[in-house]
Parts: sequence; structure tokens; C-alpha cells
Amino acid sequence: MHHLSSGYLKKIKPYLTSLSNAEYEKLITDHDDAILYLEKHLGKNPKMTRWIVQSIGHYIYSNSKENFYVDYQKVSLTDDITYWCFQPPAGGCVHLFQTPQGKLLIDCGYGANYDDWCRILLEFNLGDFSDTRRLLITHGDADHCGMSGLIPCAAYMHPVTKKLLEDGSRGFAAVNDYPELVRTYTTGINVISKLSLPKKIQTSPTEKIGTRGEFPVIDTIDFCGLHFEVWESKGGHLAGQLFYYEPNFGLLFTSDCFLNPASITKPRKEFGSIPDYLITSVNINSRLAAEERKSLLQTAHLLDSKLKAEGKRLRLCCGHGAVSGFDEEGKVRIADSVTHFSYRPKGIEGLIHAGMKLSRIVKEKTA
Ligand SMILES: [Fe+2]
Ligand SMILES: [Fe+2]
Repeated sequence: MHHLSSGYLKKIKPYLTSLSNAEYEKLITDHDDAILYLEKHLGKNPKMTRWIVQSIGHYIYSNSKENFYVDYQKVSLTDDITYWCFQPPAGGCVHLFQTPQGKLLIDCGYGANYDDWCRILLEFNLGDFSDTRRLLITHGDADHCGMSGLIPCAAYMHPVTKKLLEDGSRGFAAVNDYPELVRTYTTGINVISKLSLPKKIQTSPTEKIGTRGEFPVIDTIDFCGLHFEVWESKGGHLAGQLFYYEPNFGLLFTSDCFLNPASITKPRKEFGSIPDYLITSVNINSRLAAEERKSLLQTAHLLDSKLKAEGKRLRLCCGHGAVSGFDEEGKVRIADSVTHFSYRPKGIEGLIHAGMKLSRIVKEKTA
């Protein structure tokens, strides 16, 4: 039993077509409960909540197909290994290594954008995903592992991430004031963004084999001359989050623990603020997330100094936004020039984003 109008349901139903009737009815009932909970306990206006939920699908799909775009950085690591960081309109960066032995991916965006990514690969002469040999997942949010099931190799992840995906709530293994709210949110975002669960999973070990700053190193992965260390996070953003570090080329994959906010465009920032409204924070433990960010940055500064002595610099390859580094004053700056690639005629992007009026979320948050 729910109180949602048929007009509203008509707006969100197109984003929920993968569900059976029973699953759809359950999600709608849970969604209605979540709206009431947000109003009663967190003072959120139900009209605004409905509008935001509707905006999730609207934003993802209105920025797909002929409206898809990427901001990318291309870094030639050797004569035949290239690292690409692609920022999609919605969701996490896809970090792609093109090597003579095929592709290695770190994270793989929303499932809903799979066709968009295939088109982008063709556009940049990168073939397709069939030669993907390694898929390294940082954490179990749908914007980072959404295409896992569509990539033809095992998805490497922390065993806690495997359990989190099986459990179905991003609140897994977390102390949480709003477990039902977080579970409904996770189901909603996973369904709307077409999360494709990995068909095959390779879990990381958990035993410490070394340390980097405060972070245990739990594994190493070698691929075509690339050598990744796997670091276990403290889990402030999400339980089971991993960082990857390639010491020879100085690439640190910080996932959602550290982003360069100045490199994230306004629509992406506004879309990224949706969890703050719907589940109070994108982090499962905000205090721990802040501590962890500080600690990761400290470690990054140390690594950068070490690399500098070898005539190299560290790159912070973030979960969202541009690949960045430290300037001479130690401030975070975009590291490599960012190029915008769009299928849209010039000027259209602004109009579509303005139509979204996602800035209302930000206004409401600060009101
Ligand atoms: Fe993310
Ligand atoms: Fe995340």
C-alpha cells in the first residue's frame, strides 16, 4: 500500500523496467516509506524527494546515447601503454589502460551507459571490451562497478565488496542510523542505473603484506609491465573500498576517498550531491572518511616527494573528476590537460542541465 500518485509513478516507471511486478511493487512501497521517513525524521519535503528521485533517471538517461559525452585525459606511459581517464556525465571515472596484451580497467561506470562506452571506445580507436584482461573494482557503488557483468573477465574486488553486492545495501558492514533508507536507496540507484552484477568475481586476499602510510598493502597485480599494489581502505566511504597504486608510473587510484572538487563540473557535482539529500551522506562513516582522506593525502604527498627525487611526479587518479597532482606549493591541481568530447551540437549540454534544475538540491541543502 502506498500513497504515490499515478502521475508520479508514470514518470519513474520507465527507469524500473528490469523489475518483475512483485519487485516493482515492493520497491514502490519501500520508496513511499522512505519519502515519509525523510519527512518525519529529517524534515525533507516529500515533493522535493520525489523530484530528486525522478531526476536520477532523468539525468542518467538524458545524458546518454546522442547526448553522451566524456571529459578525458590521455597519458602515454610507454611507447605502447596508454592510460586514459574518462569522466562520463554521470557516475565514476573509467580508468583504462590500453596495452599490447589488451585492456586493464579500474572501475567501469553505470551499466546504463554500456552502449555509450562501446561507442566511445570505437571513437578513440580502442576497439571494444572483448580484450579486457583485468577489471579492478575499487568499491561496490553502482557508479564504479555497474558494467561488471558486461565485461568479459572476472571482477577483482575485496571480499567485503562481494558480500556487499550480494547483500544489496551500501550500508553493508556499517553502523547506520537509517538502514532501511540506505537499502531502499541502493536498490533504487542499482535498478535505475542498470547495475550488471559481475558474472565472475576474484576476491582479493586480506592479509597484510606491507604498508603504505596507514594503509595495509594486501596484494600486488602485474599486468603487461604495470605493477599495482592493492591497498585496503579504512572504509569511510564504503566498506571494502580498495585503492590501487602503480609505483613505477606514480599512479594512485583514490576512488571516492579523494576527489579534486575543482575539477568536477557543476552538473556532475549536483548529481553527486543526491545521496547527501536522500541518505544524509555519500559516506557510510563521515568522520572516518575525513580521517581517511587526510591520511591518504599525507601518504600521497610522501610518495610524490619520493617520485620527485627520481624525476617523476605522482598522479591522483580519482573516482570522479580529473587526474590531478600536487603543485610546487603542495596544492592539488589538474595534472594532464582535459579534453571534452561530445556527440551533442555545441551549446546543448547547458540547456539539458538547466532543464534538470539540479541546483535546487544544492539550494535546499543550504537553506
Ligand atoms: Fe562514486
Ligand atoms: Fe562511491
